[in-house]
Amino acid sequence: LGYVSLFRVVRALTGNFEGSNPTWVRRASKEDTLVDVEHSKLDALVEADQELVAGRLSSESYATTPVSIVTASSKKLPLADQSVDLVLTSPPYLTRIDYAVAYSRELAVLGINVSQDRTLRADLMGTTLIRARRDHNEDPYGLIATDLVRQIRSHSSKASSGYYLKQTRQYLDDLVASFEEITRVSKDDAVMKLVVQDSYYKEIPVRLADICVEEAQRRGWEFIDWDKSEVTRLLTQVNTAARAYSKGKVEETVIVLRRKRRDR
Ligand SMILES: C[S@@+](CC[C@H](N)C(=O)[O-])C[C@H]1O[C@@H](n2cnc3c(N)ncnc32)[C@H](O)[C@@H]1O
Repeated sequence: LGYVSLFRVVRALTGNFEGSNPTWVRRASKEDTLVDVEHSKLDALVEADQELVAGRLSSESYATTPVSIVTASSKKLPLADQSVDLVLTSPPYLTRIDYAVAYSRELAVLGINVSQDRTLRADLMGTTLIRARRDHNEDPYGLIATDLVRQIRSHSSKASSGYYLKQTRQYLDDLVASFEEITRVSKDDAVMKLVVQDSYYKEIPVRLADICVEEAQRRGWEFIDWDKSEVTRLLTQVNTAARAYSKGKVEETVIVLRRKRRDR
């Protein structure tokens, strides 16, 4: 709760650094634009916020079972094989949102300066930084993701066959690596619920829900159900360059899958 309130207060105090794109935070260009808050004022703000959040939480009922929170990358989970009953996740979408930049203020509170230390930023799924390319001849994806890669590679716009192709493959590599790891730790009959959003690369539809279902099925998951709803406010549409291409509707999908029984 302490961290939640600290993050909320820091966000509120640095609201001026948010631009029209809420996922991109500006940095102070000059000393005099830095936010300076007295310790006692900061303490008072954090305490008041804690009371507010605690008040909201007290109206909820909770299970009394002890919980542990472990932080790790979905590409390398510190969990035993076949030990998980439920996977509930919303991975980054293929929309080039850089979460380390979006959360740079929270990370600063935790002592990570994302503009100096690029390790975390480069490792996050969906990052706009390109890592050293894995060496392989063929992409390890199913038909839908492979077709998306083909369409982006052959798009006529600048950098489609260069930077954007690399960024898409890097994203898909992280997605399939995460599915591999989630499959390893999941028990037979485990349930996975995923929230994903489709998007567009230029005018090319990125059918992320279909890609996720196909990639999960290829790794032994059975499709159970999905629930689709239209997204009305798109973070990617605040980018004026992205508006140049006409887009269709974008859907958000809640996907439910079940891990098939492994042959014993
Ligand atoms: C679409 S957002 C989901 C947001 C979440 N539903 C929430 O309300 O905060 C994707 C999240 O995945 C995180 N992420 C990116 N790469 C990851 C990785 N390799 N392992 C685990 N989480 C990752 C991002 O930092 C971001 O918080």
